[in-house]
Amino acid sequence: MPETLHVLRTRSVLRNYADEPVDDATVEQLLECMLAAPTASNKQAWSFVVVREPENVRRLRAFSPGMIGTPAFIVVACVDRRMAAGFSGDISRKIYDTSKLCVAMAVENLLLSAHAMGLGGCPVSSFREEVIRLLLDLPEYLEPLLLVPVGRPAQGPTPSDRRDKNEVISYESWGNGAVAEPTA
Ligand SMILES: Cc1cc2nc3c(=O)[nH]c(=O)nc-3n(C[C@H](O)[C@H](O)[C@H](O)COP(=O)(O)O)c2cc1C
Repeated sequence: MPETLHVLRTRSVLRNYADEPVDDATVEQLLECMLAAPTASNKQAWSFVVVREPENVRRLRAFSPGMIGTPAFIVVACVDRRMAAGFSGDISRKIYDTSKLCVAMAVENLLLSAHAMGLGGCPVSSFREEVIRLLLDLPEYLEPLLLVPVGRPAQGPTPSDRRDKNEVISYESWGNGAVAEPTA
């Protein structure tokens, strides 16, 4: 348990990857952890494309200005609009907030499990969606939300600052920053 808490507390994004592949078994383990994330009404309205071929990784990077460094592989995390809770039958409708939350949770699972296994990654939202769609042959009902480069660290990531806990956490009602007394 303390080890799990250590993993949670020490994750930070990795943007500097070693030029080393990640083996199949490790990739599979990471993907299983990713799919263990919770989803609204257990709809699992998501779909992921794992890109491992170096040439394909290079192509995705070329159209993702937010992606820094060359990872061993990239997971493209998408909402599947067909499966989304409240799907109206119109796959051109773009706003399915709960499904986006579910995909974000899966991505966090992926990032945390990568960190736990000595790897690292970064959620990337800055990419050219239309080009990524074409490169991956995505059907219209899949909406790519985040690209997640993953690899071994070339050097340890630099932790980033956090806002003061008392500024962002209140107890019982907004604005009460005092530490809550545990109830009996
Ligand atoms: C939704 C989302 C989108 C992000 N997009 C990018 C991105 O395009 N490029 C990038 O380098 N980092 C991106 N990040 C990573 C953030 O910059 C990073 O999480 C933040 O600076 C805090 O650093 P830390 O995660 O190491 O604590 C994104 C993070 C989130 C949650």
